[in-house]
Amino acid sequence: MKILLTGGTGFIGSHTAIELIKLGYEVEIMDNLFNSKITVLDKIEKISGVKPKFYKVDLLDKEGMDDVFSEGQYDLVIHFAGLKAVGESVEKPLKYYENNVCGTINLLECMKKHGVKKIIFSSSATVYGDQGVAELTEDMQTGVGITNPYGETKHIIEEILKDVAEAEPEFEVTILRYFNPVGSHPSGLIGEDPNDIPNNLMPIIMKVSTGEIEKLRIFGDDYDTVDGTGVRDYIHVVDLAKGHVAAVNKMKPGVSIYNLGTGKGTSVLEMVTAFEKASGKKLPYEIVGRRAGDLAEVYANPDKAKKDLGWTAELTIEDAMNDTINYLNCLEEK
Ligand code: NAD
Ligand code: UD1
Repeated sequence: MKILLTGGTGFIGSHTAIELIKLGYEVEIMDNLFNSKITVLDKIEKISGVKPKFYKVDLLDKEGMDDVFSEGQYDLVIHFAGLKAVGESVEKPLKYYENNVCGTINLLECMKKHGVKKIIFSSSATVYGDQGVAELTEDMQTGVGITNPYGETKHIIEEILKDVAEAEPEFEVTILRYFNPVGSHPSGLIGEDPNDIPNNLMPIIMKVSTGEIEKLRIFGDDYDTVDGTGVRDYIHVVDLAKGHVAAVNKMKPGVSIYNLGTGKGTSVLEMVTAFEKASGKKLPYEIVGRRAGDLAEVYANPDKAKKDLGWTAELTIEDAMNDTINYLNCLEEK
């Protein structure tokens, strides 16, 4: 089976490429390299033995994409490409709607033109908004109470995919709602490497540990949670990558939606402690006020993915921390 990964040189896409190649899938990558580096391809080769064919093409470049699909003759697309900085999306909403939503429409049009009918889409737990409960299941109503344009783009794209699948009955759509991806490849060669100032907890912890950011600001310690700090479902990126492989194997007509999470919540302070334990050094932090739009506690109910895809997350927070520190050490050695 020949698979195109849009955004495949990025954090989650590169890990997924490796897991797919390991199982013998033919993988090609299309990315505009806005938030990733071309050198990732050599690292994928080093780990998997195969260097995927690469196209530096933007989702907004319809002609460029048409050429990719003419050459590629793909069976399936995994659509990772998108902008994901929540704070920036509030400042530049049009950039986010254009890139993520218009980009996906261009991709779907191109797929249709070239007879490619299978797509897996990178969605996010953010589409659930505030449900008033911590444990989230796929059948909950989505799109209410989303607090930023980035999250809105994920919801809108999910709706577009549902409409397309309705109109084109042979279309096979799988929507994967990721919880909070963390960790790195155990080789230390690839991991999260944001080009700009990150908003998410784990990349900030990484930058605090390297001294690029002075200290972690913990957004609130007065939530009704285990220790007052926010609780999330952190999933190791290698588990997440394997979730995509499981989804590839179980594509079916219509729309299938799965949470990819561990089902277990971890607080910010527990993440700090786990990082300190793995690194053997203190992580400077201060408690500041709550961040607007944050929820107290959120975690996945991962039962549907287990039942239908035969997939469950296996790695722990400790694995994620050890792999992240290994990755940071490898970056330093260079
Ligand atoms: P990433 O930024 O590392 O990877 C995304 C890739 O898409 C980058 O390599 C970027 O250069 C590329 N890209 C962006 N716009 C493009 C365009 N117009 N044309 C071509 N390429 C383009 O991000 P990631 O963490 O690997 O996330 C992958 C997907 O998963 C994204 O859609 C993201 O929104 C989604 N997601 C991520 C998280 C997370 O916390 N990392 C959580 C939920 C969902
Ligand atoms: C955030 C986004 C969400 C997006 C997701 C993945 C908001 C309100 N939500 O979710 O839309 O889908 O990232 O990209 O931005 N934390 C700190 N200090 C920090 C950073 C984070 O204390 O500097 C805390 C947060 O308050 C939260 C936890 O760490 O309790 C995780 O935060 P984050 O990594 O941003 O993920 P989400 O809040 O789940």
